[in-house]
Amino acid sequence: MTFIAALWQYIRFYLDTIIHSGAPALFFIRPRWTDAQIPDMYGKVVIVTGGNSGTGYATCKALYEHGATIYMASRSEKRAEEAIAAIRAGAKTGMTGFGQLIYLNLDLSDLDSVERFCSEFVARETKLDLLFANAGVMASPAGLYTKQGYTLQFGTNCLGHHRLITLLLPLLLETSRANPSQPPRVIVSSSVGHIGAPPGGVKYESVVRDHSGVDQTDAGEQVKNPVPGKNELPIWVEYGQSKWGSIALAKWLHWHHGPGKMLIFAGSVATNLAQHLSLTPVILRRAPWAVPLLTWTAVDGASNQLWVATCDTEEARKLSGAYVVPFQHVGRARPDLDDRLKLEQLWDWCDAQAKRHV
Ligand SMILES: NC(=O)c1ccc[n+]([C@@H]2O[C@H](COP(=O)([O-])OP(=O)(O)OC[C@H]3O[C@@H](n4cnc5c(N)ncnc54)[C@H](OP(=O)(O)O)[C@@H]3O)[C@@H](O)[C@H]2O)c1
Repeated sequence: MTFIAALWQYIRFYLDTIIHSGAPALFFIRPRWTDAQIPDMYGKVVIVTGGNSGTGYATCKALYEHGATIYMASRSEKRAEEAIAAIRAGAKTGMTGFGQLIYLNLDLSDLDSVERFCSEFVARETKLDLLFANAGVMASPAGLYTKQGYTLQFGTNCLGHHRLITLLLPLLLETSRANPSQPPRVIVSSSVGHIGAPPGGVKYESVVRDHSGVDQTDAGEQVKNPVPGKNELPIWVEYGQSKWGSIALAKWLHWHHGPGKMLIFAGSVATNLAQHLSLTPVILRRAPWAVPLLTWTAVDGASNQLWVATCDTEEARKLSGAYVVPFQHVGRARPDLDDRLKLEQLWDWCDAQAKRHV
């Protein structure tokens, strides 16, 4: 019986993952929600990491059209200002008029930059209603590191966002205390790719730069000729563990502070995140007609995070802690993400890294 129950759980997990992965673009899996359903967001203060592109851009645009004050947390001033100009120029009139878009520099691959961002943000604002931990890098080459020497994907997607959330937590809790009927919401972007994480979630020794015993004679400038470190994992496994970590961050937050906060994860979408895939330029050049068959748009992709960020508070309370996948569906994250000890271990490990660099 136990074996059958385990087998059934396994089958359901993989079936759900395949159907709602965001990858096969099944014709019957379509968004059941549009941004026209967003209520008046006037007075809401929002942070969107990576708001200049993809799902982050679509998120900023939709909330701007509904009156929110949005901090576009991006690493490039030029790209952010261009995105802000494009949103303003292309915005359709919302129900309540436009909001505000403000660029604030944030490089998640540099813990000092995360500190600066948070100091500046709390100096400007007295509350934070919505935090979208949206930015991410996918399948970047091995041998690239964050400023403090962590693998680029894990360091950006997980460690950088952990620090951001940690430093903004007092403000989130203060916002919650000041207005308990409208608790703030935190939405962490993950991916179906989290299932590719190593057994146990994260191999901590693999995400710390270590070139001991590695021949680096061919190494050029890090970005041009990166040399993988001793313990580094293949790039998709590394992406997987960074996204396993993203879900773990949200689950940790939910267990410690939910359901006062919303903690949700997006699934697969079609955006320029695929820039690192060698097949992407070929498909774009030779078979652009195939793109809509294989993927969705960033607007579709953003619909999950916008839905959970703006739905009615009671519905949001019920959903808090869920792993939301394409589209508007509560999906199944990898079962080891229910292991509370593993989540505590991840959070504590990230905390310890941050303390080393303060
Ligand atoms: N696209 C997919 O198929 C897919 C599938 C599942 C999940 N997701 C998740 O969805 C989220 C959004 O991805 P997307 O598809 O919208 O990709 P995207 O268009 O490439 O956007 C990624 C954003 O993250 C920003 N970013 C990257 N590194 C950063 C750093 N160190 N500091 C600050 N910002 C940084 C990028 O900034 P720059 O413009 O400066 O590079 C960009 O704004 C990611 O977390 C991703 O893992 C995507």
